[in-house]
Amino acid sequence: MSLKEEINRRRTFAIISHPDAGKTTLTEKLLLFGGAIHIAGAVKSNKIKKTATSDWMEIEKQRGISVATSVMGFNYGDYKINILDTPGHQDFAEDTYRTLTAVDSVIIVVDVAKGVERQTRKLMEVCRMRNTPVIIFVNKLDREGRDPFDILDELESELKIRVRPLSWPINIGEKFKGVYNIYESSLDLFTPDKQRVSERVEIDSLDDERIDEAVGDADAAKLREDLELIEGVYPEFDKADYLRGEVAPVFFGSALNTFGVKELLDCFVQIAPSPRPIEAEERTVNPDEDGFSGFVFKIHANMDPNHRSCIAFVKICSGRFERNAPYKHIRSNKTLKFAAPTAFMAQKKSIVDEAFPGDIVGIPDTGNFKIGDTLTSGEELHYKGLPSFSPEMFKYIENADPMKAKQLDKGIQQLMDEGVAQLFVNQFNGRKIIGTVGQLQFEVIQYRLEHEYGAQCRWEPLSLYKACWIESDDAEALAAFKKRKFQFMAADRDGRDVFLADSPYVLQMAQNDFPKIRFHFSSEF
Ligand code: G4P
Repeated sequence: MSLKEEINRRRTFAIISHPDAGKTTLTEKLLLFGGAIHIAGAVKSNKIKKTATSDWMEIEKQRGISVATSVMGFNYGDYKINILDTPGHQDFAEDTYRTLTAVDSVIIVVDVAKGVERQTRKLMEVCRMRNTPVIIFVNKLDREGRDPFDILDELESELKIRVRPLSWPINIGEKFKGVYNIYESSLDLFTPDKQRVSERVEIDSLDDERIDEAVGDADAAKLREDLELIEGVYPEFDKADYLRGEVAPVFFGSALNTFGVKELLDCFVQIAPSPRPIEAEERTVNPDEDGFSGFVFKIHANMDPNHRSCIAFVKICSGRFERNAPYKHIRSNKTLKFAAPTAFMAQKKSIVDEAFPGDIVGIPDTGNFKIGDTLTSGEELHYKGLPSFSPEMFKYIENADPMKAKQLDKGIQQLMDEGVAQLFVNQFNGRKIIGTVGQLQFEVIQYRLEHEYGAQCRWEPLSLYKACWIESDDAEALAAFKKRKFQFMAADRDGRDVFLADSPYVLQMAQNDFPKIRFHFSSEF
């Protein structure tokens, strides 16, 4: 197969949702259709059990599972599908943000009873930053939930994207009868069953009497009425709008009952994008270029303290990746060869000889890689940095064992390179501040510093609201701001200016008082 053909058949995406909406269940059902697994229940959730939140070693053990399921590759018809898994626990949201930089599209799962929840809103913001095409699957139709029109309105207003239903439910909860597939003009009847696929009713058009026979006169009439309304309210589905990230097709179903999932998958492979051109600092790189290039979007540490080894996950952006070929590691300017790159097929990890754009390879590493590093077959390219978002929690990190200062510094640096949390250095007092999304990350850092580096740390409370990356076209204004706020100025890992606002009010005042300064809540602007 030519490089172009390999690229065109690839679909690399992530499934995102608020915890409990059904991401794991949907993933599993997609794997069932791809023949990658044969029975339901085979996918281990990397969701962290709620009871375990105070015991993070247990969490890490559970997270260990996610190395195997980090990328799930399988063939579906002519397509090669790569699902990139994202951590279920929201304290590891930063991992999810980074994974989203390595996908070409996203499926969002929403619980029909709960609608759009916080985590989903935040993840959608990341998709919007990159115009990532999004498909929405409204799940759990077998349970009582909200009116589908209300859900559509909420999706539009909360996720700030136009929506277009491509399937439509007939009733909901106990009375749920099935979905009408608008995209294919077909009708599927619901039978609650975890293993079996739904029953399809052959129909010629929406007027077909077989619909009335299948679901009853009243529901058939309601379906026709709903669809008329949909056709009147929502413009026809336009694939180009979807690919630009401007409109999100919506499907309804029940992942647990394998219902509406095949419709989703069949439509997905047809409309979802194959690997797209990617922006590097120097130029736009097309996937079908001859030269290989890729970037590291995730580093998974081995939890065995005696072997500080990791797996670096590399997303292939262009060309053909080959085992043992010399590749340039741009940041260090070194040539590296990889003898044991692994690929992820049907839940198995195995050494591969070659891989193509859209694929993810896992490279065993002993500390060469940082998140965001670029690899190429020679060209000097830098893929744009992965975005960091303002952390939600901040603490000073202090050395608790004066004899081990060096170990602590090294540990902090390496853990930050791995993307465990964010480090800021206060410009006023030189103290180190660690920013995280959740409390769990502090525990992870403390434990790993102790067990992997032999260093002891202590946390000191710090009450901050947000870290904002600042810039200005006016050097004088920038200098004046930094002077006025010198106690609250910090440098991020790359030495960029960050303003630490301790309350929404302070931030608002700063924005009012310094109109020439731009405040950003993500490092990518
Ligand atoms: P997540 O990865 O997004 O966190 O969600 P997950 O798939 O684990 O699903 C969360 C819960 O919702 C699970 O129940 C799952 O069985 C259930 N679920 C998923 N899809 C559907 C659906 O279509 N209908 C109904 N009624 N339930 C659904 P649980 O009790 O938390 O776990 P389990 O003991 O069933 O595994």
